[in-house]
Amino acid sequence: MAEGAARNTDRKMKSLIDGLLRRMTLEEKLGQLNLVADAGGAVTGAAVNKDAGKKISQGMVGGMLNVWSPDKLRGIQELAVEKSRLHIPLLFSADVIHGHKTVFPIPLALSCTWDMKLIEKSAHIAATEAAADGLKWTFSPMVDVSRDPRWGRVAEGGGEDTYLNVHIAAAMVKGYQGKDLSRTDTVMACAKHFALYGAAEAGRDYNTVDMSPQKMREVYLPPFEAAVKAGVGSLMTAFNDVNGVPASMHKGLLKDILRKEWGFGGIVVTDYTAINEMTAHGVGDLKTVSALALKAGVDMDMVGEGFLTTLKQSLAEGKVTQREINRACRRILEAKYKLGLFDDPYQFFSKQRAEKKILSAAHRQAAREAVARSCVLLKNKDNVLPLKKNATIALVGPLADDKKNMLGTWAVGGDPEKAIPVAEGIKNVAGDGATILYAKGANITDDAELAKKLNVFGETATIDARPPAQMIAEAVAAAEKSDVIVAVVGEAKEMSGECSGRTDISLPKSQCKLLKALAATGKPLVLVVMSGRPLTMEWEDKHASSILMSWFGGTETGNGIADVLFGDYNPAGKLTASFPRNVGQIPVYYAHKKTGRPAPADAFKKFTSCYLDAPNTPLYPFGYGLSYTRFDYSPVQLSNTELRDNETLKASVTLTNTGKRAGAEVIQLYIEDPVASSTRPVKELKGFKKVFLQPGEKKKVSFEITSEDLKFTNADLVRDWEAGEFVVHIGTSSAATQSSAVQWRRSENPRRLAASPKTPPARKHGAP
Ligand code: NOJ
Repeated sequence: MAEGAARNTDRKMKSLIDGLLRRMTLEEKLGQLNLVADAGGAVTGAAVNKDAGKKISQGMVGGMLNVWSPDKLRGIQELAVEKSRLHIPLLFSADVIHGHKTVFPIPLALSCTWDMKLIEKSAHIAATEAAADGLKWTFSPMVDVSRDPRWGRVAEGGGEDTYLNVHIAAAMVKGYQGKDLSRTDTVMACAKHFALYGAAEAGRDYNTVDMSPQKMREVYLPPFEAAVKAGVGSLMTAFNDVNGVPASMHKGLLKDILRKEWGFGGIVVTDYTAINEMTAHGVGDLKTVSALALKAGVDMDMVGEGFLTTLKQSLAEGKVTQREINRACRRILEAKYKLGLFDDPYQFFSKQRAEKKILSAAHRQAAREAVARSCVLLKNKDNVLPLKKNATIALVGPLADDKKNMLGTWAVGGDPEKAIPVAEGIKNVAGDGATILYAKGANITDDAELAKKLNVFGETATIDARPPAQMIAEAVAAAEKSDVIVAVVGEAKEMSGECSGRTDISLPKSQCKLLKALAATGKPLVLVVMSGRPLTMEWEDKHASSILMSWFGGTETGNGIADVLFGDYNPAGKLTASFPRNVGQIPVYYAHKKTGRPAPADAFKKFTSCYLDAPNTPLYPFGYGLSYTRFDYSPVQLSNTELRDNETLKASVTLTNTGKRAGAEVIQLYIEDPVASSTRPVKELKGFKKVFLQPGEKKKVSFEITSEDLKFTNADLVRDWEAGEFVVHIGTSSAATQSSAVQWRRSENPRRLAASPKTPPARKHGAP
C-alpha cells in the first residue's frame, strides 16, 4: 500500500475505533478481550465456555476459536453483528498449523525441506483454505526452538536451530498474512508460544523454565523477533513460567522486550486458560493473575474468562487502569479493522469459494510435493532405494495402510478419509508393474493402557484381534516371497503433539519385534518411519538396509512417500533436529558450547566430558540427509583472509553432482568464533542454499558474510561482534564440513568503546 493510502487507512481506523471506545461500556470492552471456545468446536483444553451464544449477543465475546465453515460461522457472526448493541463483528480463529483441510506435512517435517519458498507457499495455501472457511486468524507459526525430542511439541516447530527458525518464522508469517490482511486468501498469523515453551524442563509439557537471559536472547527469542519484523499480527503467551514468573504475566518478556524493544503493536493472546493456570503456578487467585496479565501487556484471554469476570473489580480497586483496558481493546479492534471485518463481516463466508478452494487439485499437488521434499534419507546401503517399479514388494507395518495417523498432530481441519495411505500411494506411483504383498505385521503398540491415552480423539492406535505372533508370521511370509521389504513403522499421531511427552523415544516394542523378525529373513529391509519427533534408532540403523524418515505427511502422505521410494523424486531433506542414540544423551544438539575438558572424538577418556556408555555425538546430526546421487564439495574458498568492520567476506565452494541422478543438495554454512569474551557454540548455522544439479553438473555456490553474522549477545546482554579469528565451515551437514579461517578487525578506538557500559568489548581476549 502506498504511504499516503496507508496513512488514510490509519486515520479512518483511528476515528472508527475512537468512536467505538467512547460508546462502549466497560463490560463491552472486556467482552472484546474474551476469546471463547465452543463445545461444538475442536477442544484443546479441559475447559470450554458456557452460553457462548448468549454472551455474543450481549457483546461479551471478542472472538471464537476452533469453529469453522461458512454456514456455521455466518450464523454466529449474525449474533454479534445483528444482536449485540454495537454490532462489532467477531474474529474467528483456529489452529491451522500445517494446512487447513489440505493437510501438509507437520512443521518439523516441512523444516527439513530447508525451502523457505515451499514453507511460505504451504502457509499461503493454508490461509487460502482457512479464509475460505470463514477463519481470519491462525495460531501459527509455532516458533519455539526445542532441543528436547522427549517434548511432544517438537512436531509443531522447526527444530533445534535458531537461525533456521528465524527464517521459517518470517516465511510462515509472509505466507499467512500476504500483503493485505483483508483479502480473502490471507489470515492473521500468531507466533507462539512466547516464550521459551520449547525449553520445558525434562521435555515434559507445560513444565518450568529457568534460563539465563543471555541464552534466551541467543537461542530462543530471535524467531519471535523475526516474526515481529515480518509484521506478525499477534503473539501467544506460553504456559510455562520463566525464571520464576509465568509467561502470561511476564513484564520483562511482554513489556520490555516485546513491546518496548521490538515495538510490537499487535495482539498478545494467552494460551488456552493460561491466565487461570497462573493460580496453579501459585502466584495468586484469578482476580490477581488476570490483573497482572493485563498489566504485563496481554490483550486477549483465551477461554479462561478471567478478564471478563474480574477486571471490573480490579479497576474499581485501582489494580488496573481504564487506559490499560482501552489499550487492549483498541488492539483487538485494530486487528478486526485490518482484517476487513468492519468493511463486511460476512465477506469470508462464501460456500462457493470454500468449494472451489478447499482441497483443490493444485493444493493437493503442492502438498504431495511437500511430502517428498520433507523426507530425509537416513541410510541407503547398497542403494536398495529407489525401488524398481516391477519388483515384488512386501509392504508391512502398522502404518502402511493407515489413514488415521497420516495427518499427524494438530490437523483439526483435516479429514483422514481424504488422506492417501502409503499402500495407495505405491499403487498410484508403481502402477501395475509392481506386485505388492501386504501384511500389517504389528500394532502400533500392544500396550492397551497406552492405546487408551492415544485414542482420546478417536481410535488411532488400534489393537488387532489377531495375536502379535500371528501378525508377525504373516509379515514374514510376505517378506519371504518378495524382493524387498518396505516396513512402514513409527508413532501413532497422538504420540507427539501437545501433552505427548515420551521418556522412551524408540519405536514401540511391538514394532521392534516385527522388525527383528523381518531382518532375520535376510531380505533387503527398507524402513519408512513416520513420527512427530526424532526417534532413537540405533538397532534400526545397524540392521535396516535403508531408512527413510517421512514424519507425518498429511493428506498426500502416501503419494509423496511413493514418489521418493520409486525415485520419481530424489530425496533432499536434511534433519533439523539431531537424532540421539538414546534418551540419556538429551539434550544433544550441534551448536553446543565447548567444555574445558573436551573429549576425544566419540571416545571415552577419563576426566574429559564424555559418557561411560555412549558417544557424545548423535546418531544422525543436524543438517544430515542422503540423496540417491552423490555430491562432492571442493575446499572452501574465501575472498579475503583479513577483513575490517563492514567489509563483506565471500565464502564459496564448488559442488559437483558425481552420481547418476539429478538431485538437490542443501549446502550449509556455519561460523565458529574460537575466542570471545563469552563462551560460544562450537559452530552456528549462518546460511544455507538449496541447489539442484544434473548428473555431472558443477556449480560454484557463494555466501556473503558480514560482521552482522558474527554478532552475539554477551554476558552483559550487549549484542555485537568481537574482533579476532572466525572459522567458516561449509558442508553437507553440521558434522561434515570443510573450513577456512579469517581475521576480522575493528577500526574503532577500543578505549572509547570500553568507556561506555552499553558498548561491547572492542576486541576479543588476545585478538589483534
Ligand atoms: C493450546 C496450545 O498450547 C496452543 O498452541 C493452541 O493454539 C491453543 N491450545 C488453542 O487451541
